[in-house]
Amino acid sequence: MLITAGPTCEAIDPVRYITNRSSGKMGYALAKAAHDMGAEVTLVSGPVNMNAKPGVKLVGVVSAQEMYEAVMQQKQAADIVIACAAVSDYTPNTVAGHKMKKKETLTIELHKTKDILKTLGEDKKFHLVGFAAETQDVLGYARKKMKEKNLDMIVANDVSKKDVGFDSDYNAVTMLKKDGEIVETLRESKERIAKRIMLEIERDLAQ
Ligand code: PMT
Repeated sequence: MLITAGPTCEAIDPVRYITNRSSGKMGYALAKAAHDMGAEVTLVSGPVNMNAKPGVKLVGVVSAQEMYEAVMQQKQAADIVIACAAVSDYTPNTVAGHKMKKKETLTIELHKTKDILKTLGEDKKFHLVGFAAETQDVLGYARKKMKEKNLDMIVANDVSKKDVGFDSDYNAVTMLKKDGEIVETLRESKERIAKRIMLEIERDLAQ
């Protein structure tokens, strides 16, 4: 099983970067739950303050491009891929070689990063699960992403709520399956949510 976790960091200059609030907790909980159930797990992770469970193979990356390359390399061996990482959608056009000096205003031009999950969906030989972090019309946008990225399941979470989602120890998710089935959880610890997600995947693969 291949799992992505954490944020990515997009360098602006040698000391500054653009990132997001992902702590890695959800992705690391998924890796632990999968390993506990007997899977061989590779965890491709952006920079976080977390330790992977012993036995989980950890591949550390920093930027969205590095995460893309690591995932493309590791996907060959995977039967199941879960994309839980909060990958930066944009990255600076150029990285300054020296610390940038202060000016009154600063404009940084960004371009889109590669969509790792979409690329995985284009030629998939594995069960593919994505996440959707949304603040409005959570299920509508999640459904759209599941279709566009050719997923078997998408795990939608409402990240506008303060007590779940980014950086929280808790989450509340809705799992949408490609056959239309919907499975909703209450607010629970990320460990319990991770286990629920693994059991749903196991059930879908057994069908
Ligand atoms: O890390 P935590 O603090 O525990 O928080 C968990 C979480 C909120 C980060 C997690 O539950 C979550 O929702 N992860 C997905 C975050 C996200 O970036 O969602 P998105 O809706 O922007 O992206 C949709 C999917 O495309 C995701 O599976 C993402 O990994 C993937 N993606 C996005 C952009 C990109 N360039 N490549 C991708 O593969």
